Amino acid sequence: MERLDKILANTGRWSRKEAADLIRAGRVTVDGVPAVRREDKYAETARFQVDGTDISGEKRVCLMLNKPAGLVSATDDPRQPTVLSLLPGYLKKAGLFPAGRLDKDTVGLLLLTNDGALAHSLLSPRRHVDKTYLVRVDGVLDEGDEAAFRAGMVLKSGLRCLPAGLERLGPSEALVTLREGKYHQIKRMLAARGKPVVYLERRTFGPLVLDEELERGDWRPLTEKEISAIQSAGTGPQE
Ligand code: URA
Repeated sequence: MERLDKILANTGRWSRKEAADLIRAGRVTVDGVPAVRREDKYAETARFQVDGTDISGEKRVCLMLNKPAGLVSATDDPRQPTVLSLLPGYLKKAGLFPAGRLDKDTVGLLLLTNDGALAHSLLSPRRHVDKTYLVRVDGVLDEGDEAAFRAGMVLKSGLRCLPAGLERLGPSEALVTLREGKYHQIKRMLAARGKPVVYLERRTFGPLVLDEELERGDWRPLTEKEISAIQSAGTGPQE
């Protein structure tokens, strides 16, 4: 059960104050009945409408999720729980999908949106939107690893990796910056250096920075400022 103003605000389309104004103006119905108080709590399975339109309707929704381990970055999977299982029912109907993938055991920043064009532009290999990851390895990182990342590695499989950043934060910990997102890329690059990854957390995705207030498994709508920033990142020069 969740407060009505929070349910409306969670769509990312209204602030809590705007939601309260809508409720007061009699524009919100729950299961067809006009809502009266912003603080009334409802099950997320109810049908919420504003001016007769479902709140999970066609509008663009962009959420920042702090992904926990154990969930796959997909909209549905026959065997494993997906990141969408963390969302309330009214958002499950909004057509959201993860913009890019994190491995099942990778945690941290994942963008969920229903805007296919925006996701596509951010993920375009020609756009080179930077992503940074906190990485811990089994082994000790050294200058050779930094140099190899800087130069761009070619893996035994033939996979060519663009130059990447590896900034050592401790003997076995680093901040890695990628300009692309190939399958298991960081794990494969570090495995090739003989230092298997034991922990991987995405901290940034283009201009988005993982909100420290978000607990693992929690999500929030992007702010207007964050939405403008990712729109600019997705329409910037291609390389
Ligand atoms: N690199 C990986 O190996 N896994 C991820 O989830 C992201 C980047």
